[in-house]
Amino acid sequence: MKPHLEPRERIIVALDVPTSDDALRIVAELKGLVSFYKVGLELLMSGSMGNLLRALVQEHSVFVDLKLPNDIPETVSRVVAIASDIGATFITLSNSATRGTIAAAIAGRAGRPDPKLLYVSFLSSLDRADFAQQYGGPEAGFESFLEERTAKAKDAGADGFIVSGQEIGLLHKKYPNALIVSPGIRPAGASKDDHKRTCTPAEAIGLGADYVVIGRPIRNAPDKRAAVQRVIDEIAEVEAGNGSPSNGHALGASSYISGAPTIAKPR
Ligand code: C5P
Repeated sequence: MKPHLEPRERIIVALDVPTSDDALRIVAELKGLVSFYKVGLELLMSGSMGNLLRALVQEHSVFVDLKLPNDIPETVSRVVAIASDIGATFITLSNSATRGTIAAAIAGRAGRPDPKLLYVSFLSSLDRADFAQQYGGPEAGFESFLEERTAKAKDAGADGFIVSGQEIGLLHKKYPNALIVSPGIRPAGASKDDHKRTCTPAEAIGLGADYVVIGRPIRNAPDKRAAVQRVIDEIAEVEAGNGSPSNGHALGASSYISGAPTIAKPR
């Protein structure tokens, strides 16, 4: 059974910035509004990751987005152990993670519940055409490919999935108890940047996402608090149960601007 989350608790802000100072400036600006942050490869490479993580976990939930590769079990296990010691809530495993990688990650938690292991099902910067090109299958095989890949990860012990676009609904239906965390979130009319499979916040939550990960639309907003508040309002509308998932796409998109009721959350 998943815990009840308030609309604001469903938002994870991606701190895609080069330094701790940059990250903490965003956190300070969003104080009281956002309680969950994601730190990733940019902060790791700049050397800011460890200290920033330790500072963030004092008052926030933290998602460590390393997309852990298929390294030897010892390495995977030790990395997850450190993340658990620090108090990370989520950590990502890349889709190269095998059964052995996932078992090693679970061993690294040493019986502790966190960090939850989220398997990156298929990058939001890729679509079914990329799937066909990379795996040589017909585009129509994308869904069954995702189902097969995620079934293996779930069976190996992954707690949930990173999934974007319409495939959120597919995985939510197949794994109603798995955590569904969705990046590639864009307000209606906003640039998709490098994502090919995007959703508005309302669409993602309406399709069954537990959390939405939002980076640039908040990081680059002139008024970050107002940008977050719009997402909160949009999620609250979905949770109020207005509309239905089948008409979600169009309604979700337009309502980001109008504030009109959007899609129902299928829970
Ligand atoms: O700026 P934007 O909202 O596109 O940020 C999305 C964040 O989610 C980035 O930090 C990116 O690394 C991450 N992410 C993603 N797609 C995945 C997994 C993680 O966009 N499949």
